[in-house]
Amino acid sequence: MPLIAGNWKMNGLAADLDQAQVVAAGVGAASTARVVLCPPATLLARMATVLTGTPVLVGGQDCHDQPRGAFTGDVSAEMLADAGASLVIVGHSERRAAYGETNATVAAKALAARRAGLEPIICVGESRAERDAGRAIDVICAQVAGCVALPLAAGAFAIAYEPIWAIGAGLTPTAVEIAEAHAALRGALIDCAGGRGAAAPILYGGSVNPGNAAEILAIADVGGALVGGASLKAADFLAIVHAA
Ligand code: 13P
Repeated sequence: MPLIAGNWKMNGLAADLDQAQVVAAGVGAASTARVVLCPPATLLARMATVLTGTPVLVGGQDCHDQPRGAFTGDVSAEMLADAGASLVIVGHSERRAAYGETNATVAAKALAARRAGLEPIICVGESRAERDAGRAIDVICAQVAGCVALPLAAGAFAIAYEPIWAIGAGLTPTAVEIAEAHAALRGALIDCAGGRGAAAPILYGGSVNPGNAAEILAIADVGGALVGGASLKAADFLAIVHAA
C-alpha cells in the first residue's frame, strides 16, 4: 500500500486544521493509500484530535534523539507519540542544511523514533552539484548506509528520496533518474537491513503535484510520495492521494 505523506514544514495555524478535515473526508475508509499529515509540532495534538476515527495519520517533522532532558526548544519522539503521532520525518535536507544534521544524527533520531513506537521516514537526497558531478547514486546510498542502523530493522520504517534541487523548485528528475535512484536505494537498504530493507517503502519527494503524481507513483519501486507545498491545499493533496 503506497504511503502518501504531507509535510507542512513551518506552515499552519489552528485555522488550517479544516484542511486536514477535508483531506480526511476525501480519503475515505477504502483508500488504497496510507495517508499521513505532518503539521508543525504546535498543531500535532489538535490535528490528531480532529482526525480521530479517520484513516489519516499524523506525523512529526523531526525529533530529538533523547526521550527527555535539558534540550531547550526540542521535542522528543516520545512527546510526538504522546501527542498522537504515528510517524516522524527525520533527516530532511532542510534540517541537514540549517542545523548541520549528519548521518549519525539522523541515525540516532531514527532509532529514537523506533524506541517511541513511531515509524521513521528517513530522508536522503543529493544536491544539484552532486548530481551534475555524477555522484547522486553514491551520495544517497552512503546516506542510507549512514542513517539506517540495524536495530531499525526490528520495525517498520520508510525512506524518502528527495533530491535537494527538486524541493520547492517545480523541477523533478526524469522517470529514468527516479527509477535508477530507487533501485540503488533498494540495494543499499537490503545491505543495511535485510528483509526489512527489502520491504521498506521508498517515497519520492520534490515538487510532487497533482499533475505529475500519477506518473511518478507508477515508476518501479516508488512506494509513495513525500509532498511539501502541494500538501497545504486539501484539494491538491487529495488529488495526489487519489493518483496512488
Ligand atoms: P515540495 O513538494 O514543496 O517540493 O517539498 C518537498 C519536501 O521537501 C517534502 O518533504
